[in-house]
Amino acid sequence: NYPRQVSIVEVGARDGLQNEASVIELPVKLAFIDGLLRAGLKRIEAGSFVSPKWVPQMADSAAVFNSLPQNSGATFSALTPNEKGMLAAIDAGVDEVAVFAAASESFSQRNINCSIEQSLERFEPVFRLARQHNLRVRGYVSCVMGCPYEGAIRPDAVLAVSQTLLDKGCYEISLGDTIGTGTPGQTSRLLSTLLKTIPASKLAVHFHDTYGQALANILVALQHGISVIDSAAGGLGGCPYAAGASGNVATEDVVYMLNGMGIECGVDINALVAASTQIFDHLNHEPASRTMRALLAK
Ligand code: HMG
Ligand code: MG
Repeated sequence: NYPRQVSIVEVGARDGLQNEASVIELPVKLAFIDGLLRAGLKRIEAGSFVSPKWVPQMADSAAVFNSLPQNSGATFSALTPNEKGMLAAIDAGVDEVAVFAAASESFSQRNINCSIEQSLERFEPVFRLARQHNLRVRGYVSCVMGCPYEGAIRPDAVLAVSQTLLDKGCYEISLGDTIGTGTPGQTSRLLSTLLKTIPASKLAVHFHDTYGQALANILVALQHGISVIDSAAGGLGGCPYAAGASGNVATEDVVYMLNGMGIECGVDINALVAASTQIFDHLNHEPASRTMRALLAK
C-alpha cells in the first residue's frame, strides 16, 4: 500500500552545496535552481541563514533569495536556527523556513553550539515571527538513526523532540538520518514508534546515503505511508558537522524508483539530470547518483 503521489523536497542547493569544498558562485547557484524548477521540482530548499563563519558556502543566501524568480509556482525555503537568521530570511523574502534540532545532545552541541533544550528556546522567536509573517515552519530532527558521537539513538528520543517541534508550530517533521547509518529494520522500528502518535502526513524522510541504505529505507517509509521525501540532485550533500557523512540520497535515484513503481512525483528525470550536470561541472568530484550516471552513459 504505497502513496499514489509523493512530493520531493529538493535540498541540493542547501544540504548539498553547504558541504562542497568549493564555494559556488551566485550565478551558478541560480542557474542550478532554475534547472531544478525546469525539472518540475516544487519544494526547493535554496539556502540557510546561519553563521557565515560556520558555513561559508551559504553566506550568499540573502542574494540567492533576492534573485529567485517570482511566481514560479515553487516554494523556496531556508534554514533559520535563531531570531537573527529568521529576521534575515524574512528580509530576503523566503516562502518557508525550517528550524533544525537533533535527537542527540552531542550533535546539537557540535552543529548549533547549544543543547537540544536551548535550541528549542532559540526557535521561539522563529515561531513567533513565522506566525506574524504567515510563514510555514518545517522542523528537522537530525541523527534519527544514529549519531556520529553517541552511536545508536532511541526512537523515543526522536519522538520526544519531533512532538515538541509539532506542538510549537511545525507543520511537518523531516527525519534526518544525518550520517546514513540506518537500515530498513531500524527505519521500520523508528516509524512504527512515531506513527503511534504522529500522523504520516506530518512526517518526511531525509536520508543520507553514506552506507547505500537510503533507497531501501525510503521504500520502508513509503510502506508506512510517508509521502514526502527529501533528496539532493545528483546526490550532492553531506553535513560539515558529521565527519564521513556523504550526500543526501540522489533525487534522480528516488525519481527513477518512484517512476518504476507508478508513484507520481511530477519530476522530469532528464531535465533533472541536465540541472545536475550543470552544477557538477563546477565541482571537483563525480555525482553519486547511479541513475544520473546510467542515463548519461546511454
Ligand atoms: P553561536 O556561536 O552559538 O551563536 O552559533 P551566537 O548567537 O553566540 O552568535 C555568534 C556569532 O554568530 C555572532 O557573530 C552572531 O552575530 C553570529 P560575531 O559577533 O561573532 O561576529 N550569528 C549569526 N550570523 C548569521 N546568521 C545567524 C546567526 N546567528 C548568530 N543566524 C549558530 C549558533 C546556530 C548561529 C551557529 O552554530 C551556526 O551557524 N551553525 C551552523 C549550523 C548549520 O548550518 N549546520 C548545517 C545545517 S543542519 C544539517 O545539515 C542537518 C539537516 O540536513 C538534517 C540532517 O541531515 O540531519 C538539516
Ligand atoms: Mg541533511
